[in-house]
Amino acid sequence: MKDRVKDLIDKLNREHSLAREEFVYLIENQSEEAQTYAADLAAKTTLEIYGDKVYVRGLIEFTNYCKNNCFYCGIRAGNTGVSRYRLTADEICECADEGYELGFRTFVLQGGEDPYYTDDIICHIISEIKRRHQDCAITLSIGEKSKDSYKAYRDAGADRYLLRHETATVEHYNRLHPDNISAEHRYQCLRDLKELGYQTGAGFMVGSPFQTSENLADDLLFIKDLEPAMVGIGPFIPAAGTPFANEKPGTLEQTLYLLSLIRLLLPEVLLPATTALGTIHPLGRELGLEAGANVLMPNLSPKAVRDKYKLYDNKICTGEEAAECVNCLENRVKSVGRRIVVDRGDNIAFCD
Ligand code: 5AD
Ligand code: FES
Repeated sequence: MKDRVKDLIDKLNREHSLAREEFVYLIENQSEEAQTYAADLAAKTTLEIYGDKVYVRGLIEFTNYCKNNCFYCGIRAGNTGVSRYRLTADEICECADEGYELGFRTFVLQGGEDPYYTDDIICHIISEIKRRHQDCAITLSIGEKSKDSYKAYRDAGADRYLLRHETATVEHYNRLHPDNISAEHRYQCLRDLKELGYQTGAGFMVGSPFQTSENLADDLLFIKDLEPAMVGIGPFIPAAGTPFANEKPGTLEQTLYLLSLIRLLLPEVLLPATTALGTIHPLGRELGLEAGANVLMPNLSPKAVRDKYKLYDNKICTGEEAAECVNCLENRVKSVGRRIVVDRGDNIAFCD
């Protein structure tokens, strides 16, 4: 590893920030040793702050209808090869009930941008899950909405919101999305969510088409500036039926390296080892946990719809029952010397 790479990783570990050109240098000079070096420091940081705990979130993918047409996304409106489904409020609550029995204390309601679910319906689902399980946190991941809608969900009891910024570079954003959606609006949504008191999650894909080292450096600076409670990153994986179906996927190595840099940048952040990471490598999630991640988000959606929520190809865990997933994850987590806890798993800045 080059001396300057080591110096910069040490500096990031000490100061939790770097200049743009320093990030660019780190990204362009990634090596196996640099990755291991960053991962070790990141793992140490995670251990100091969150101990050996791994938090789990029960992911309920409740609709794969989406009105948008992001070029990378398998459930984009224009993909005619998708068999579409919607879960009813009752079905969603049943998933949460089952998840609660399995030890989940956070439920993530994720879906495409589907106008079928009005604010009233979403609020009803939130308050019903909260009524049944008062000790649980609810995370929403349903895309760009008005500030008023975000406020209504918050008032109904939502605690957290995931909205990846996708890329902090406007020109890059415009190459990943059609003209009817804008980077500025997405960034504004993130600021609105933070202002409303949500534990907010930003994030991006690693190795998305056209992405440069400068883009990634700007993603890191964006995250530093926004200071989200959570950051979700995973490799880009091409999806059939999308304009990017034949693009090349992001790599395991770069994703792990960025996970570590993010842990050093924002030591207290909640950082999932994502399903996408587990999809590009059989031990991707374990390696993610060893590189600074401390969250896993297994699927709680009913088995009948599992394989229909495919943002990308070859997605793992689409055939298992929720309980099987939990067992599998427990073993995986143990294999890297960590343990899954029954806990809401709030960002420590939000714990009282
Ligand atoms: N590969 C990897 N991640 C994807 N996402 C959407 N499509 C893909 C893909 N083809 C990510 C986006 C989105 C999140 C829910 O999933 O970053 O915000
Ligand atoms: Fe649904 Fe991008 S395709 S939000």
